[in-house]
This record gives sequence, C-alpha cells and structure tokens, in this order.
Amino acid sequence: MSTLCKNWTQWLMETRFASLTDEMRSQTMAWLDSVGTAVVNMAQIKPDDVVLDIGTGTGLLAFKAMEVLEKTNGNGRVIFSDKFSDCLDSCRNFLSTVATNVNYEFLNAACEDLKLPDNTVDKALMRSVLVHIVDKQPAINEIYRILKPGGYFCAFEPIIRSNTRYWELLDPKFITSYYEFKDAENKIMSDSNDSLCNFDDLTIKKNLSEAGFTDTSTLLHGIESKYTVTKDMVIPWFISPPSPDRPSMKERFLQYFDEAKVDNYIAEIQNYLEGKEITLKTNSVLIHATK
Ligand SMILES: C[S@@+](CC[C@H](N)C(=O)[O-])C[C@H]1O[C@@H](n2cnc3c(N)ncnc32)[C@H](O)[C@@H]1O
Repeated sequence: MSTLCKNWTQWLMETRFASLTDEMRSQTMAWLDSVGTAVVNMAQIKPDDVVLDIGTGTGLLAFKAMEVLEKTNGNGRVIFSDKFSDCLDSCRNFLSTVATNVNYEFLNAACEDLKLPDNTVDKALMRSVLVHIVDKQPAINEIYRILKPGGYFCAFEPIIRSNTRYWELLDPKFITSYYEFKDAENKIMSDSNDSLCNFDDLTIKKNLSEAGFTDTSTLLHGIESKYTVTKDMVIPWFISPPSPDRPSMKERFLQYFDEAKVDNYIAEIQNYLEGKEITLKTNSVLIHATK
C-alpha cells in the first residue's frame, strides 16, 4: 500500500489530481464527466434494466445510470459494485443525502468473481478497472457469465503503454543518463506482468471474443493536451502512485538505479521542463460488446 494514499477513495478524490493546477483539475473533471456520459449512452439503458457498475469507485457511471433510470419511471435497478468497501461506503454516504426513486444496491465483489447468478444483468458498465487487473481474460469471462443473452458490456479503459513517455519530452543534451532512463522507461512500459500497460485495444478485442462476446467494438481514442509545466507539477508525476497499491514511477525507476540517480533525473526534468509548453498524448479504448 502506498504511504501517500490509503485507499481507492482517497486516490480518486485527491491523489490523481496531485500534479494538476485548479484549471487542469476542472478540465479533467469535465473530461471524466464526458467519458461517463459516453459509456452510459452506449449502454442504451431501458426502463427495467439491471445495470451493474463494476469497480464503481466514487460512482461516476452508476450515478449517471441512475439519472437515466430516474427519467423512465421503470423498475430498473443500479448495482454499485467494487472490490474495495471504502468505495461502496463513499457512494452509500452520498446516496443518503439525496432523494431518488431509482432502485439501487451495493455489491462488494471483485470483477473476477462478481458473486451474481448467470444471465442476470442487462448492462455491465466499467471505467478504468481492467487497467488494474493483471489477467484480464478471467475478468472479461466473468462479465460475460453474469450478462443476460443480448446484454451489453460498455467500458472505457486507458491504453497507457502508448501514451507520451517522459523521455519523449526531453532533450538528451540536457539530461544526464538520458538513454539509460529511456531504456528503463521503455522496459517498465512493456512489462507483461504490469496490469497498467500489458494490454491495448487489440488484446481487449481478443479477450472479448474469447469470452464469447459478439458485435465487439474497441474504438481507439487519442487526445492531445497542451500545457505549460510548472515546477511543482513534476515531483507529483514521479511520486504519486497510479493506484493505492502500486509503485510510483520513482519507485519503478529505483528497480534500475539508486535513489541519488533517480532524484537527479527528476531534478533535471524539473529544470528542463519548467515554463515549457508540452503536448501529452493519452490513449484510451471505448468498448462495446454484446453477449
Ligand atoms: C480508477 S478507479 C475507477 C473508478 C470508477 N469506475 C470511475 O470511473 O471513476 C478503479 C476502481 O476499480 C476498483 N477495482 C480495482 N480492482 C478491482 C477488481 N479486481 N474488481 C473490482 N473492482 C476493482 C477500485 O476499487 C476502484 O474503485
């Protein structure tokens, strides 16, 4: 467990925004909102649907699904599910403060073992959860199992291994050991045992058809964001964990170099990038599959 982040709720509410200015934070929130809307729209939720949000976190997709059901006056139901109970507690606390006529329930279960009977869910939704599971096939098989025939799996997952890498932002003339760090970063980003970067749109498509899904669509989506680097942005890039239980980029580099060398690399990046405008490419996949 990271010393900087005690659980998923803290990661979702604070850690992931650590290197962002207020303006970038609100842009990120608006982007998350639009991603949530895109996933829920793909699901075409009907009035009596049983909708399962897998790895709900702070409820981004589940609350949007409730908004859809609220307008239908049907008998539909939203299941907030997560492997970690702190996430369900945070959604439960929020729901205790609002009035709703939509049926909802909570399920404390991992994606790989959803603890629901076969063929019982109409729409399974997910955002940024497979990226935290090393072996994605059993998780996708489990989603297939609980869906009703004709049910949809709609998801959004980041494709981290094709994002901009640190070395791409730098000029070797100004960075000691540039090539050693470039090599280490490339190795880190192609580690097949690392859930964050051991997949892309093509491997997901293969997982889906192996599970039995038909009509699978895995749409690769890339965005480029431009911003000016400030000095206090850089250290959080390296020390913030990508999830509560995973090593930060600095900790990953420590598997290759001693701490003084890693700290020097980070300091040189800070000096080199401060005040420069950079463009970051981030990729993701929008998934739609039918059982
Ligand atoms: C990046 S967060 C995404 C949260 C939410 N879906 C959203 O879009 O904001 C990842 C979520 O996946 C959950 N999670 C991680 N591993 C899981 C697993 N094996 N099964 C179910 N949920 C898992 C975490 O607790 C966390 O809530």
